[in-house]
Amino acid sequence: MRAVGVRETKGRPELLEAARPVPDEGEVLVKVGAAGINPLDWKIADGMLEGALPYSFPLVMGVDFAGVVESNGPQARRFQPGDGVYGQVISDPVGRGTWAEYVVVNEAAAVAAAPSSLSLTAAAAAPTAGMTALGIIDVAALRGYESLLIIGAAGGVGSFLTQLAAAHDLRVVAATHGHDEQRMASFGAALTVDVRERALVDAVRTEYPRGVDALVDLASATPDAFDAGAALVRDGGVAVSTLGAATPDALYERGVEGLNFQLAASADLLVRLAQEIDGGRVTVPVESEAPLERGPDAVARHRAGGNRGKTVLVP
Ligand SMILES: NC(=O)c1ccc[n+]([C@@H]2O[C@H](COP(=O)([O-])OP(=O)(O)OC[C@H]3O[C@@H](n4cnc5c(N)ncnc54)[C@H](OP(=O)(O)O)[C@@H]3O)[C@@H](O)[C@H]2O)c1
Repeated sequence: MRAVGVRETKGRPELLEAARPVPDEGEVLVKVGAAGINPLDWKIADGMLEGALPYSFPLVMGVDFAGVVESNGPQARRFQPGDGVYGQVISDPVGRGTWAEYVVVNEAAAVAAAPSSLSLTAAAAAPTAGMTALGIIDVAALRGYESLLIIGAAGGVGSFLTQLAAAHDLRVVAATHGHDEQRMASFGAALTVDVRERALVDAVRTEYPRGVDALVDLASATPDAFDAGAALVRDGGVAVSTLGAATPDALYERGVEGLNFQLAASADLLVRLAQEIDGGRVTVPVESEAPLERGPDAVARHRAGGNRGKTVLVP
């Protein structure tokens, strides 16, 4: 089958011919309708999970998918052939990814019925970014807070998070790298700050002299960069990093709770995400589609930055 992946750790993604996977006990074979692109994909290909899981080459990349169940492996009973499903797969060994015509999925893992209101192409954009946004809302936003600053708000996670936060009555300040006011306002942001044109500290302090209640930083990779945003959180607030850049002890000294969020992908989160989507509270922000053959270019562009919403590959 056609697939996109790498032949070695840190290799350049290329179009590959890979063996069609065979579902083992408890697994289902899914014919991929579309597969989303996430930063996690190239982080894994660069070796992020080495030490935690074995790698197998050629390594088919991709974690997000939506598709149709083709067949069940032994003992797999949760789905029937023909069911539309979506989810996130991190295989063991790493390398049986979703940027391919077929993928096998453990039925007990992060897979659920695809949102009924979406095409498979749109559904494939949702799993990792949507579950991350829901998970962050769970840990940070449902504590009676009123204001939320999101740094990196225009990307995949930020586009979901802005909508979910607004739906939970949080006033969202969206910090972006470009002219995204219209797009972010359509997602429910109260204020969008293009940090290339206006210092974030000025914009936030003008509206919130004591600081915002909560920060979610989706962009800062170092504690120093994260602390610049966390300095805009009020005493008693919370500052969340998706990049492991929060230093909880140092933040605690300042009266701010620091959290390094780690997604625990699950079928439950996917079911809730589908309810948010089918209930009309979240629009899946697909900005770009590419055929699988163009996957290597699409991945290179995505990795270079400038991401708005989600990009999906269609086999
Ligand atoms: N810990 C977890 O469980 C978890 C889960 C999901 C994602 N993540 C991580 O979270 C990060 C975000 O994921 P994503 O899928 O949303 O990535 P993405 O789609 O690439 O979005 C990132 C966004 O941040 C913007 N940005 C970068 N620097 C900025 C700055 N200083 N100020 C404002 N905006 C800035 C980018 O714009 P430009 O490209 O134009 O700069 C882009 O729009 C990734 O590193 C991902 O690996 C972690």
